[in-house]
Amino acid sequence: MSETPKTDHAYDGIEEYDNPLPGWWKWLFVATIVICPFYWMYYQTGQRTVASQFEGAMAENSRLKFQEIGDLQPDEVTLATYLQKENWVKFGKSVFATHCTSCHGAKGEGKVGPNLTDEAFKHIRTLPDIAKVIEKGANNGAMPAWGHRLQMNEIVLVSVYVASLRGTNIEGGKPAEGQEIPAWPEPPSDAVTEDATEDSGEAEPAEGA
Ligand code: HEC
Repeated sequence: MSETPKTDHAYDGIEEYDNPLPGWWKWLFVATIVICPFYWMYYQTGQRTVASQFEGAMAENSRLKFQEIGDLQPDEVTLATYLQKENWVKFGKSVFATHCTSCHGAKGEGKVGPNLTDEAFKHIRTLPDIAKVIEKGANNGAMPAWGHRLQMNEIVLVSVYVASLRGTNIEGGKPAEGQEIPAWPEPPSDAVTEDATEDSGEAEPAEGA
């Protein structure tokens, strides 16, 4: 030990050995610096960026999620049918929770946007009108258009959720705007029995669209 060279400074009589860093440590340090630009290029530029991997995963996720229902169309039969399918209404609820509650309230009771839980609507008379307003927006963007931000399946299912809010009349909601509209149509007769079960083979003929 005593032969180890010392650094040439001393503070209050305290001296310091001049031990070299271990070789493996130095090379590890050099390696991190050498790898760094390649790592950066791999993950931050080109095809494999974290963002594009995330997008890929999300696309795969919705492909799996929507596998069993295919591509829904925003027509009356489809909307009336899915209004009976509790678990897909719930999916619509999650879309609503993510994108819509800031303006329409946590339960659709209305904030900046109108109350969706009463019987009166400004732009809606039929079920497909709901999907249209959501896709295209209304009142010069006061109600934003979601057509380029949500997939059609998401638009259909959030429309179904909005339709399900009607008549829940959440207390303390915004006063009614627009006109009272006719009741939603009866669901197609074969949709009623399908209900929320969703077991794959059975559900197909009910989709109707
Ligand atoms: C930035 C605020 C905002 C967000 C976010 C928003 N809305 Fe709206 N929404 C509005 C406003 C404001 C109106 C009323 C437009 C008008 O006065 O013509 C409206 C109207 C509507 C209507 C028509 C109501 C009627 O009475 O005819 C529906 C349905 C609707 N929004 C659904 C949604 C859904 C579903 C989402 C989420 C995907 C959403 N909104 C997100 C502000 C918003």
